[in-house]
Amino acid sequence: MVAFNLPVNSRVGLGQTFKAPAGAKNVREFKIYRWNPDDGQNPRTDTYQIDLDACGPMVLDALIKIKNEVDPTLTFRRSCREGICGSCAMNIDGGNTLACLKPIEECSGAVKISPLPHMPVVKDLVPDLSQVYAQYRSVEPWLQADSPAPPDGERLQSKEERAKIDGLWECILCFCCSTSCPSYWWNGDRYLGPAVLLQAYRWIADTRDEATGARLDALEDPFKLYRCHTIMNCTDSCPKGLNPAKAIAEIKKLIVERVA
Ligand code: SF4
Ligand code: SF4
Ligand code: FES
Repeated sequence: MVAFNLPVNSRVGLGQTFKAPAGAKNVREFKIYRWNPDDGQNPRTDTYQIDLDACGPMVLDALIKIKNEVDPTLTFRRSCREGICGSCAMNIDGGNTLACLKPIEECSGAVKISPLPHMPVVKDLVPDLSQVYAQYRSVEPWLQADSPAPPDGERLQSKEERAKIDGLWECILCFCCSTSCPSYWWNGDRYLGPAVLLQAYRWIADTRDEATGARLDALEDPFKLYRCHTIMNCTDSCPKGLNPAKAIAEIKKLIVERVA
């Protein structure tokens, strides 16, 4: 049952404001979603006034500055700081993206930051990714082949074969796409969503993999695959410039072709 109003204990209240240091001339406000499962309080939005003259250029720089210098209780994930690990995915200025790749100067006005939408929240900006990882595991994302590997140990591909997984292997599993997909919002328990389907197609498209039939069998399901209605939010939101909607369309095409 879809709820159109937030339950009372989910309504976001106004939180604290942390003022900029005296003398700061280039101040920008960051309005950040806060929620602590241990204090029994509703979520709130805290406001941090940050001197951009003393801050790096990316939104992640501001978050790290806030945590190090203003409020150590602020909780978020990050690791690589260069768009590789996928862990700093969050909603910034109304769109899902990576905080380490999002320049502060691209945000309009106060920078609004919240966790990836429609996911349970562990704390503050940290979403609970248990479901998407279980779904990722379900597509068996590893090479499957019964034929023995050649004596030199490597399964070689031509340049053309290798090119078939371009636009797929680059996925960093940040889940910006799945959490921007309305179908995933409403049916995320049964629809695999764009990130996991792109990963499924990454192995289907790999010419070294010999489990294509079984992989397509597993995906041919009204919910796992066919909840995609080609709305394209996923492709618009991918910070790596990938096209999960196209990967999903390729899977559907292969399923049609094998029954034709
Ligand atoms: S194209 Fe499919 S996967 Fe992408 S946002 Fe739309 S429904 Fe979701
Ligand atoms: S397809 Fe793009 S948005 Fe989706 S998980 Fe992969 S890198 Fe992230
Ligand atoms: S910190 Fe790794 S992608 Fe942003």
